Amino acid sequence: MSNSSIDKASVVNRYLPSRLVSREYADAFAPSNIALCKYWGKRDAELNLPVNSSLSISLAHLGSHTNISHSETGLDKVRLNNKDLSLDSNFSRKVIAFVDLFRRGQKIPLIVDTRNNIPTAAGLASSASGFAALVLALDDFFSLKLENSVLSAFARMGSGSASRSIYSGFVRWDMGSQSDGMDSVASQLDNRWPNLRIGLIKVSSVQKPVDSRSGMNRTIETSKLYPSWPEQAGSDLITLEQAIADRDFARMGACAEKNAMSMHATMMSAWPPLVYWLPESLAVMHKVWQLREAGVAVYFTMDAGPNLKLLFEACSLSVLETEFVSMEVIQPFSD
Ligand code: DP6
Repeated sequence: MSNSSIDKASVVNRYLPSRLVSREYADAFAPSNIALCKYWGKRDAELNLPVNSSLSISLAHLGSHTNISHSETGLDKVRLNNKDLSLDSNFSRKVIAFVDLFRRGQKIPLIVDTRNNIPTAAGLASSASGFAALVLALDDFFSLKLENSVLSAFARMGSGSASRSIYSGFVRWDMGSQSDGMDSVASQLDNRWPNLRIGLIKVSSVQKPVDSRSGMNRTIETSKLYPSWPEQAGSDLITLEQAIADRDFARMGACAEKNAMSMHATMMSAWPPLVYWLPESLAVMHKVWQLREAGVAVYFTMDAGPNLKLLFEACSLSVLETEFVSMEVIQPFSD
């Protein structure tokens, strides 16, 4: 991982007017997303520039709503899921630091109110949808009218996977090569897949012991398997795009599962080892493999945590609902 000589404030500054003009109120929504080809590893920690391109599917209406208005008290206020947060909390600090990239010292006290409608039982990260919704809300509040690619780049500076949450459907985040990262942006694929379903299987809601950022760094620094990851991710991305274009479910599912397992292999071979799985995670994997043996077309993917996301088509819904009674089902193309 290299340390960038370019800081995010100077990149953002290039796209803003010298003085911001604000509206009364802005409201935005961004969906959460699940990667089929994972982003794992940064080549630039300041700008969240990835080592590999990735591909995800957005979760339709499940994500973050963020609204921004003026704060009459003269102080910023940060709200999350209908509660006022302390300005010292991690969440508030991240939000305010991000908003400051736009305000650049101008005194514009704001209320930033975020509500996540991701099912609490789902065990899904909300930072991707959160930063994407914040960028969209800031764009609206300051009437910036930035292009989607710029919005994606800005969201990426908050959290890498947020670059993909600017869009719905299938989304590819190109790693890019420029040092300012402005070509490291996501775009939407044309393909839709109305029968596709995602099943969320929560095995634990305990907060992950090592966050993605630290996990990626540790993996890059210590895993002997990591050097093989960028090439694997690159070829998986091509396979996935082709499988999506051909609507070849088995090929897509197998590639997504293999990609997730390969990412976890790099984590497990880090030192100290990063094992996000719990015994229950492994039990679900075995069940998925048994179901496949029995002819049910179901695959899984996993992120930096113990919960699984099943991939299947509508025709397998009833059998899977019987096998996984607590599964939450998402229709990514329900809009
Ligand atoms: C395993 O986007 O949360 O979910 O850029 O440090 O905020 P930061 O990391 P983040 O990492 C997501 C990692 C992943 C794979 C993925 O979503 O592509």
